[in-house]
Amino acid sequence: MKHYTNVKDLGDLQQAVKEALEVKKNRFAYKNIGENKTLLMVFFNSSLRTRLSTQKAGMNLGMNTIVLDVNQGAWKLETERGVIMDGDKPEHLLEAIPVMGCYCDIIGVRSFARFESKEFDYEEVIINQFINYSGKPVFSMEAATGHPLQAFADLITIEEYKKTARPKVVLTWAPHPKALPQAVPNSFADFMNEANVDFVITHPKGYELCDKFVRGAKVEYDQAKAFEGADFIYAKNWAAYQDPNYSKILSTDRAWTVDTAKMALTNNAYFMHCLPVRRNMIVTDDVIESPQSLVIPEAANREISAQVVIKRLLQNN
Ligand code: CP
Repeated sequence: MKHYTNVKDLGDLQQAVKEALEVKKNRFAYKNIGENKTLLMVFFNSSLRTRLSTQKAGMNLGMNTIVLDVNQGAWKLETERGVIMDGDKPEHLLEAIPVMGCYCDIIGVRSFARFESKEFDYEEVIINQFINYSGKPVFSMEAATGHPLQAFADLITIEEYKKTARPKVVLTWAPHPKALPQAVPNSFADFMNEANVDFVITHPKGYELCDKFVRGAKVEYDQAKAFEGADFIYAKNWAAYQDPNYSKILSTDRAWTVDTAKMALTNNAYFMHCLPVRRNMIVTDDVIESPQSLVIPEAANREISAQVVIKRLLQNN
């Protein structure tokens, strides 16, 4: 693996999950492969889980880690090529990236969709610039259109908790007061489409995701119908993807909030969410605090997904 930005970079997904479960059993088995190597984690956006779990994963592999919060203490960065830099941004990303590459062996990048231009977001301009100009292996810590470390952790969690060989997994839109990117649902769909699961997406009309990630998966607009017989409910909000509403909030209808009555329609399903979550918007207190809630095991598996990815980048570069 040269870089990690989507499910395809993992190759055989079954094998990747097997490797993850082995790493989880003994996370210090490879503590020497990162000796004298440096992991640089670059954040353009806030984080709790990704920051801690990825740093921990690097340390498990014996790496030194550096965290750069671009918006706190670094020079403000211009990211558009061709701009006359007479404003408040004294440094261009096209110099900053190769400079960052001088100080590390692997770079993780978090750079969310900006919602200024669908083309800019869906061309993944920022992470691709890191891939093209850093000279180092790069992995996504959530980019504009995908969050593959999260989706890999979600798949590991489903493998650990599933009770049937081919569980029914439902990705449901849920309401939220702010416009959120499609990165998490995109990557979740991407992974579920490659996994041995019966995958259904449910959302209000107008929230259709990009075909590149949906890949023909079943879309059911009736949330109650989608929940019937489900083994896993994965809740997430996202803003509209389709034109002309890209990045807009079309609904905050709390009838879509995951509550006990809806969970009762399922096959005693587990509840999943990547966190952070807005309680009683996305999911009720009762559901997230229930024994069926997997939000903490999912977060714990972020260390494991990150460790497999960093391990493979160390081994293959
Ligand atoms: N799920 C996730 O990526 O959490 P953070 O935004 O806190 O890193």
